[in-house]
Amino acid sequence: MELFFRSLSKFTTSIILLLFLFSCFSFNSSEAYDALDPNGNITIKWDIMSWTPDGYVAVVTIYNFQKYRRIEKPGWTLGWTWAMKEVIWSMVGAQTTEQGDCSRFKGNIPHSCKKDPTVVDLLPGTPYNQQIANCCKGGVLSSWAQDPSNAASSFQVSVGAAGTTNKTVRVPKNFTLKAPGPGYTCGPAKVGKPTKFVTQDGRRVTQAMMTWNVTCTFFKEKIQV
Ligand SMILES: *[C@@H]1O[C@H](CO)[C@@H](O)[C@H](O)[C@H]1NC(C)=O
Ligand SMILES: *[C@@H]1O[C@H](CO)[C@@H](O)[C@H](O)[C@H]1NC(C)=O
Ligand SMILES: *[C@@H]1O[C@H](CO)[C@@H](O)[C@H](O)[C@H]1NC(C)=O
Ligand SMILES: *[C@@H]1O[C@H](CO)[C@@H](O)[C@H](O)[C@H]1NC(C)=O
Repeated sequence: MELFFRSLSKFTTSIILLLFLFSCFSFNSSEAYDALDPNGNITIKWDIMSWTPDGYVAVVTIYNFQKYRRIEKPGWTLGWTWAMKEVIWSMVGAQTTEQGDCSRFKGNIPHSCKKDPTVVDLLPGTPYNQQIANCCKGGVLSSWAQDPSNAASSFQVSVGAAGTTNKTVRVPKNFTLKAPGPGYTCGPAKVGKPTKFVTQDGRRVTQAMMTWNVTCTFFKEKIQV
């Protein structure tokens, strides 16, 4: 009996040792990958696709331009602070985690009235009428080097109480990204050239009304223990 327990504890010790060695190895390898990917970043692009009577409809796409660092379960969480009193009337392909205080609205109630909304992806299996292309992967993204076709995630947001021209729209501030944990720092939104879209048959090019992007980078210092 005693022999049994002794060998059991030996077995447990070696398992713990193995797990420890394994975690050291994977930690080191992600560090090494970082050195090979000094310009890796996650870029969040906002394309205003159309104006509405009180704002705009934008498609927001998150690109994981990192070579090796995937975004694993439970997926990305994107936050920002509105520059004015904007509200989110509706979203397709993602949702805010909190509605906030919409008590000033009667009739149509916005999807979110929070000054600093937090957005998460929808899960696989979302009904088709709530999906857009590249959505609904539970926030999980592969990296650019491993699988570029699965390295981007999109959602559509309909924003109200916002500007309705490219002169009056104010870009959101203070972007935060958890992918899924902390460690990312995001820069300010930069307005650039409107994105051009080529139709599937390649015979027509359309363009966004206005485009801005935000770049988030990973600082490995923050995860070192
Ligand atoms: C982010 O990564 C993309 C793709 O590698 C690169 O084109 C872009 O310049 C990078 N952005 C910044 C701010 O480093
Ligand atoms: C920006 O976001 C951080 C973290 O969410 C928060 O602590 C800070 O107060 C925010 N700043 C502004 C100006 O909203
Ligand atoms: C982001 O915007 C900057 C400034 O307009 C632009 O130079 C850059 O190419 C854009 N990056 C992406 C990935 O769209
Ligand atoms: C805003 O729209 C005008 C035309 O209405 C255009 O000339 C200008 O380049 C646009 N600015 C931006 C930042 O898209």
